[in-house]
Amino acid sequence: MLRTKLGDFELDGVFTNGSGVNDDSLEKLLQIANSRAGFITTKTTTFHPRAGNPGPRFYMIGNSTINSMGLPNPGYQKMAEIVKELKTKTKKPVFVSMSGFDTNEAEEMTRVLSPIADVLELNLSCPNLKGKRQIIYDAEATEEVLKAVKKNTNKKIAVKAAPFLDFAQQEEFCEIAKKNGVDIIVAINTIGNAMYIDVDREMIMLKSKWGGLGGEAIKMVGWGNVRRYYEYFKGSVPIVGCGGIYSGKDAFAYALAGASAFACASAIYNPEGVAVFAKMEKELEIELKKHNYSNLQDAIGKAKEF
Ligand code: DHB
Repeated sequence: MLRTKLGDFELDGVFTNGSGVNDDSLEKLLQIANSRAGFITTKTTTFHPRAGNPGPRFYMIGNSTINSMGLPNPGYQKMAEIVKELKTKTKKPVFVSMSGFDTNEAEEMTRVLSPIADVLELNLSCPNLKGKRQIIYDAEATEEVLKAVKKNTNKKIAVKAAPFLDFAQQEEFCEIAKKNGVDIIVAINTIGNAMYIDVDREMIMLKSKWGGLGGEAIKMVGWGNVRRYYEYFKGSVPIVGCGGIYSGKDAFAYALAGASAFACASAIYNPEGVAVFAKMEKELEIELKKHNYSNLQDAIGKAKEF
């Protein structure tokens, strides 16, 4: 059994579900609570309930995924009720993922969700909102949201970061995160603007045409982004690695890059569901032993360099 720390949180279990998978109802969140996940993440909730984009809107292709879900969720008031109930049934920390479309929404959602959340996870990186820029790619908008949220909470805040494909842009976000007291970074979200074409059918397979790419296909971008955060913050801001984690070995690589815990999204779609956490934990224990680490903490950031 592996333990880890995310700032002040001492976690019994080093995995969580990546926001958006198996996490939009009490029943599904309880499955995660009763698994070997060390903490629980909710589906990103918005001010108004959303049905999301029309389907088809999700595919699993090998160990990669593409989706154009469009943030289907019951809205923040219903999510607050769900999390309140969840908290009576588990001691595991709950990361409540939220996305306000403007600062008024963000402030109101923070006021309601903050008292019941252990961590507010700000999803600044949904790629599936037509006509809306991903907030994190806009430095001014990012700073505005962070200030609005910080003003209304004394809880820890995490940011779900989009993949940065440009170093200077990632560093600009790091500076804003540092200045505004981001406590935890979850990296990376899906890579937006992707497309799945079935050549035999000569067809774009998502109704919304473009979607977010996840799973195996994005793992190396994940490692790269995590390492940049680790080097920038010199380990002072804990990182949850996310993107293509299918095995203990994948998680070990994220640890070597600098992650202290691991979020699995695509992997939960496999038939075993939330049982993947226990399976990957065993694999990670074997991997740590094989490389002569007596615990996860000792492996964090230890990727050797030429
Ligand atoms: C959705 C949100 C995300 O943050 C993401 O990475 C992929 C999909 C969504 O609900 O559309």
